[in-house]
Amino acid sequence: MRKPIIAGNWKMNNTASEGVELVNALKPLVKDAKCEVVVCVPFIDIPAVKKALRGSKIKLGAQNVHFAEKGAYTGEISANMLKEYGVQYVIIGHSERRQYFGETDETVNKRTLAALAAGLTPIVCIGESLEEREGGLTEKVLSAQIEKDFAGIEDLSKIVVAYEPIWAIGTGRTATDEQANETIGFIRKRMKKVYAGKNVGRMRIQYGGSMNPKNCKGLMAQPEIDGGLIGGASLKAPDFAAVVNYDK
Ligand code: 13P
Repeated sequence: MRKPIIAGNWKMNNTASEGVELVNALKPLVKDAKCEVVVCVPFIDIPAVKKALRGSKIKLGAQNVHFAEKGAYTGEISANMLKEYGVQYVIIGHSERRQYFGETDETVNKRTLAALAAGLTPIVCIGESLEEREGGLTEKVLSAQIEKDFAGIEDLSKIVVAYEPIWAIGTGRTATDEQANETIGFIRKRMKKVYAGKNVGRMRIQYGGSMNPKNCKGLMAQPEIDGGLIGGASLKAPDFAAVVNYDK
């Protein structure tokens, strides 16, 4: 059985004090959640949010990590730095990082391996653009990402994959339940083939892209979908709580 996981990706939103306010409002609303709940916050918010999360089951995540252990990488943050602060999850390879910050499949792979080596759980994002979907290239694009991004991982149950079709991110245009289920089913099948014997059956795959209180029930009812990576709707406690409590 794969335990569902709902993670909020705050992106570049919330100062530390705003973040504390948000998790304080969130805590009572999600205290009976059956799924795993994570908030992925800006680096600078980590210490304050960590403190505010005390006594709750909500886990702490970051939104990126560098692949080197340490060294001359001005402005970067290592996996050990995150680990020491009690961070458990880290988003890697979000399409915004690929689009605006030169992230490639190669660096996604290096970051993922570094996160695992430090004992963090990577949430690795893959997905196709609108052009690629309309051109019938979805499976080809995903297959290429699958082969490169996850190379060299021994136990794939230690990572979470987030399938985020780029055309559904922040657009209000969600993949239909069937589209999301079918594509995530494809990802799992393909990974089982490429990474046979690496525990793919126990690896969780989330859907991400305009997931909200209205559509979460339908998406989460799909057999292939193990959770959600939530952007906009994670910035308001009642909305994020409604997604977390999709089963109530
Ligand atoms: P939205 O939920 O705002 O579409 O963002 C999705 C996302 O990118 C989560 O990582």
